[in-house]
Amino acid sequence: MTATFSQWMGDIQQRTEAALEHALPAADLAPARLHEAMRYAVLGGGKRVRPLLVHAGGQLTGAAPGRLDRVACAIEMIHAYSLVHDDMPCMDDDVLRRGKPTVHVQYDEATALLVGDALQTQAFLHITEATVSDDPLRQIAMIRQLAQATGSRGMCGGQAIDLASVGQQLTLPELEFMHIHKTGALIRASINLGVQCGHGLDDGQMATLDHVGKVIGLLFQVVDDILDTEADTATLGKTAGKDAANDKPTYVSLLGVARARQLAEELCQDALDRLAPFGDTSQRLAELTRFIIRRQF
Ligand code: IPE
Ligand code: IPE
Ligand code: MG
Ligand code: MG
Ligand code: MG
Repeated sequence: MTATFSQWMGDIQQRTEAALEHALPAADLAPARLHEAMRYAVLGGGKRVRPLLVHAGGQLTGAAPGRLDRVACAIEMIHAYSLVHDDMPCMDDDVLRRGKPTVHVQYDEATALLVGDALQTQAFLHITEATVSDDPLRQIAMIRQLAQATGSRGMCGGQAIDLASVGQQLTLPELEFMHIHKTGALIRASINLGVQCGHGLDDGQMATLDHVGKVIGLLFQVVDDILDTEADTATLGKTAGKDAANDKPTYVSLLGVARARQLAEELCQDALDRLAPFGDTSQRLAELTRFIIRRQF
C-alpha cells in the first residue's frame, strides 16, 4: 500500500534528520564550540522542504534513497548556512529561527559567520564523498549546478539584491528576479539534483522539470512573503512582520495579500499542469507543491 503524503513526508524528515546527524562533525570534536553551533543550526528543526524536493525529484527517475539522502543533506546544510547569515544583524537582524534563538544570539556573531562558512564547505565535502550518479562526469556536473545555485548568480546574488532593495519600490520583474535567485535557485537545484540521481530523462522532460523547479521556487518565496504578514511568530518560529519592519519589497508590499495569493495559486497550477504528463512518478512532487501553497509556517 502506498504511504499517504503525510506518512511519506514524516519518513523523509526522519531519515534526513538521521543522515544530517551523521553528516555533521560530532559536537565534542575540536573546535567543539564551532561544531556544537553547526549542529545547533542544522538539527532538530525546519520543515526540510529542500530534502523533500530532492526525494520527490528522485521519484521521477527511480533514484536510490541513499543517494538522495546525500544530496538532500548537502542542500539542507547550504540552506541552514543561508539562514544563519540571513538572521545576522548585518542582514535581517532576527533573534528567532525555527523556534529557537538565532545562532548569533545563542553563540556570538563571529561564530555565526563561521558556522555558515563551515556548513557550506561541509556540504560540498559531503556530496563529493560518495557516489550520487553512476556517471562520474554527471556527478561533477551536479556539484557545479549546486555551486552555481548557491553563489553570486544564485542564492547569494539574490540576497545581495534583497539587501540593496531595502526601502525601494521594485517593479514586478525586479522582484521576481530577486526571489528566483535568493530562494528559487536552491529549490530549483533540489529538484534537478534529485532527478539526476536516477535514470536519464530526455532533454524535453529535463527542461520541463527545470521550469517546474523555477516555478515552485518562486511560489515558495511568494508564500513566505504572505506568511510574514499573515501568520504569528509562535506558528512561524521566526519573527512575524519582519519584512515590513525592515522595509523590504515583497509580493505583499507590491501587490497586496489578495493578489499575491492569486499569483501563488497560478504558479501552483502551472507546476501541477506541467507535472501531469509524468503520471504516477510525479505524485510526491505534485503533493509537495500543494503542501507548499497550503503551509502555515
Ligand atoms: C525560510 O526557508 C527561508 C526562505 C528561503 C524563505 P524555510 O521556510 O524552508 O525554512 P525552514 O528550513 O523550514 O526553517
Ligand atoms: C531568506 O529570505 C532567503 C535566504 C536565506 C537565502 P527571507 O529573509 O525572507 O527568509 P526568512 O523570512 O528570514 O526566513
Ligand atoms: Mg532575508
Ligand atoms: Mg530573513
Ligand atoms: Mg521571509
